[in-house]
Amino acid sequence: MKIVVTGGAGFIGGNFVHYILKKYNDYKIICVDALTYAGNMETLASVKDNSNFNFYKIDIADREAVYEMFEKENPDIIVNFAAESHVDRSIENPEIFLKTNVIGTQVLLDACRKYGIKRYHQVSTDEVYGDLPLDRPDLFFTEETPLHTSSPYSASKASADLLVGAYYRTFNVPSTISRCSNNYGPYHFPEKLIPLMIANVLNDKELPVYGSGENVRDWLYVEDHCSAIDLIIHNGKVGEVYNIGGHNERTNLEVVKTIIHELGKSEELIKYVGDRKGHDMRYAIDPTKIHSELGWLPTTTFDEGIKKTIKWYLDNKSWWENIISGEYASYYEKMYGSR
Ligand code: NAD
Ligand code: TYD
Repeated sequence: MKIVVTGGAGFIGGNFVHYILKKYNDYKIICVDALTYAGNMETLASVKDNSNFNFYKIDIADREAVYEMFEKENPDIIVNFAAESHVDRSIENPEIFLKTNVIGTQVLLDACRKYGIKRYHQVSTDEVYGDLPLDRPDLFFTEETPLHTSSPYSASKASADLLVGAYYRTFNVPSTISRCSNNYGPYHFPEKLIPLMIANVLNDKELPVYGSGENVRDWLYVEDHCSAIDLIIHNGKVGEVYNIGGHNERTNLEVVKTIIHELGKSEELIKYVGDRKGHDMRYAIDPTKIHSELGWLPTTTFDEGIKKTIKWYLDNKSWWENIISGEYASYYEKMYGSR
């Protein structure tokens, strides 16, 4: 089996590359990544010489380059992780989100139509459903929840999902879509809540909590996301959407305090800062469908996962210190300097 993994130099795509190469020693992985600020070849250092691994530095919105790669590789499966993924950046500059997340998806779907494919899998997000109110803990996102986006990021991801559905119905591109809750774990870029807080605690820097810190996210250890996608591409039904989540809801403040306590530091590091525009209150996934149809269950609780993640950041300081000493420093100043 030959799988093209787009966005494989990023957080979840990188973990997926490692997961598949470890599990299937007869599968070939073709990693396609434009190496934007979020892509990092260090994440792939341990597999770059593996004979089952190949890398193409390609923008998924570059039709010519994508078609050329299809002609050379003739893949069986595409798993599309490549995306602009940070909500705060989408509020600053939406355009690149439309180019990569929408046009890039369209180019990949066109390539699947032109060259044929066994399966196209779109890695989407629970953010396409909008948010849930804090005072209704009985409500969860199901696959039938209407799309109702809040940020340019989520709007671009929902647009891509609609295109995938349209290419399935109109052109019979055999596709599936997964919508996962917030991931955390190794190789997570330190602009996102959990790695940002771990890095700041370790550097005794202020911990910028947006608004009141009461917003709720439903956290999933990244390896559990990888195992769910593995099941969907092998056993999932084409034309279907699968929600992925493990009922690990936490307020942002709970997450930040857990990290502080695990690292033995003081809550005085917390600094409440201006809220995110259009900030979603609560995400919470109902994973009944993927459990009952494909037998998927997560294996890592939040308490175990956060310990493993903190240990990974302690053991792999050079990976994230390289990032935060580069252009990230000016990003940080721009986003947090006068917040
Ligand atoms: P990430 O930002 O860490 O990685 C994105 C990767 O895509 C990077 O390697 C980047 O270089 C690459 N990329 C960006 N633009 C590209 C382009 N035009 N062409 C080729 N490559 C390009 O993102 P992530 O957190 O790993 O998310 C991966 C996917 O999972 C995204 O589609 C995201 O929407 C989805 N998702 C993320 C989460 C989460 O919690 N992080 C949750 C649910 C779904
Ligand atoms: P983030 O990791 O950006 O993921 P998403 O917005 O896709 O859920 O943010 C998770 C939550 O943490 C979100 O409610 C915003 C909040 N947050 C902070 O309070 N401070 C921060 O510095 C960051 C990056 C996020």
